[in-house]
Amino acid sequence: MNKEQRDFLKDSVRKRVDFSRTGQSRGVPEPPWQKPTPAGSPTVSLPAAGNWNVPACDLREAIARRQSHRRFLTLPLSLDDLSFLLWAAQGLRQAASPRQNFRTVPSAGCRHALETYVAAMRVQGLDKAIYRFLPHGHSLVKVKGFDRLESLLSEATFGQRFCGDAAATFVWTAVPERMEWRYAEASYKVIAIDAGHACQNVYLACAAVGCGACAVAAYDQARMDELLGVDGDEEFAIYLAAVGKVQSEPS
Ligand SMILES: Cc1cc2nc3c(=O)[nH]c(=O)nc-3n(C[C@H](O)[C@H](O)[C@H](O)COP(=O)(O)O)c2cc1C
Repeated sequence: MNKEQRDFLKDSVRKRVDFSRTGQSRGVPEPPWQKPTPAGSPTVSLPAAGNWNVPACDLREAIARRQSHRRFLTLPLSLDDLSFLLWAAQGLRQAASPRQNFRTVPSAGCRHALETYVAAMRVQGLDKAIYRFLPHGHSLVKVKGFDRLESLLSEATFGQRFCGDAAATFVWTAVPERMEWRYAEASYKVIAIDAGHACQNVYLACAAVGCGACAVAAYDQARMDELLGVDGDEEFAIYLAAVGKVQSEPS
């Protein structure tokens, strides 16, 4: 038993934080709501909320049938499917307003300290590559193409092959500065909680598009960060979800 690590789950930290010293209290400008895109990066527009071909889905049934899937059909995801799943994970609730950062998932203090990457193995219209989702603008920016993306993902998850067999594997990174600006040392537990919201929405949204998902928290930190091209300090991977088409079950 490690007391310090157990304490991570408690909120005792809040009484130790000097909130008068946070970036916000000192007037430091708010970190950007999403990671800026390097100039000239190739971007892909995604079908906007409401413009996609996604059938209605009974929420009660989606919750009742939610389960982890690790075997996927070889069928690709459509761009509509991916757009919908990304919207469910981290999309803006009021896409029309660039001054608001309210999303489809809750976040402590509305800080939204996550970025969502997609390793696209089989998505119609997308090269096999790693992309980053831009909630503001509802688009993807291409990070890097990889010929061996399937095996690289499997290697970066300690041999969990379904992460490479998936049509797309989502990887959430944390950008701690966004949460620290307001909550200092009280940031870390709530970032982890926020990642759970994103992943659960993906599980449930999968039901609407004939997909299944499996959450993954066991991965090689250094390899995954390298694959995403993040520095491992200011931004690092914290959670994954492998997603693919699955055999429909009789109701
Ligand atoms: C935080 C978290 C981490 C997980 N990590 C993994 C993982 O690394 N590999 C895996 O195969 N499943 C992983 N899972 C899936 C669980 O094994 C699965 O949710 C559990 O067995 C219950 O099955 P169910 O989701 O079908 O109800 C994870 C689930 C959660 C919530």
